[in-house]
Amino acid sequence: MKRRMTDDGPPMIAVPKGALYDDVMACLDAVGYDAAAVRANERRQLFEQERVMTMRPSDVVAYVAEGVADLGIVGKDVIAESLLSPNIYELADLRFGRCRMSLATLAGNDNPVDLAIRETGVARIGTKYPRTALRWAEATSRSIDIIELKGSVELAAVSGLAHGIVDLVDTGNTLRENGLVERTEIAASTARLIANPVSYIQHADTIARLADQLEQASAALA
Ligand code: PRP
Repeated sequence: MKRRMTDDGPPMIAVPKGALYDDVMACLDAVGYDAAAVRANERRQLFEQERVMTMRPSDVVAYVAEGVADLGIVGKDVIAESLLSPNIYELADLRFGRCRMSLATLAGNDNPVDLAIRETGVARIGTKYPRTALRWAEATSRSIDIIELKGSVELAAVSGLAHGIVDLVDTGNTLRENGLVERTEIAASTARLIANPVSYIQHADTIARLADQLEQASAALA
């Protein structure tokens, strides 16, 4: 069922339930969405009247690409990983949620990934971001086998399942607590405002205005 905006209704926006959630809700509040109503019922996922839907971060691109939501807010890391990213417009860098995608390995003088490549020609990389990891490997002429994981990725490097991991780093605490070190920053990530292309074309003025307001609201968060 399509829930796209009508000429008089505000855009339906897809909100990620994760690290970005609090900042996203603060921005939506500042631009006139009823964030309090959404916060009051954290188990509900569709807030038709408030024009908000909440979901796992990795699902935001699909809802926007399919036009079920007109807009979405999601990390650049998720956009870079999604097969559907050619089907959305990226409208603005909202600058919050800054983190980086990095290669991490066990601490020590030798980088286990490069050591494995030298010794056997290929390194095993554990990650929730296989496309990002493969893109990095190709760009740096490294030969890797991906071990795709759903979470607790650090364990892969600590336990020896993988020679290294490609994962998000924010404070670096998770790496440190697992005896891992960051070897290479692969990409930086921040929250982005994305749009369904049809919604954008049909409601360009409204969406452009809202994008400006969201950029201002997100600048005030910094
Ligand atoms: C991310 C990432 C690391 C952690 C890094 O996980 O996978 O585990 O955050 O943060 P830090 O550098 O501040 O310690 P997230 O919290 O998104 O959970 P997930 O594994 O369920 O995706």
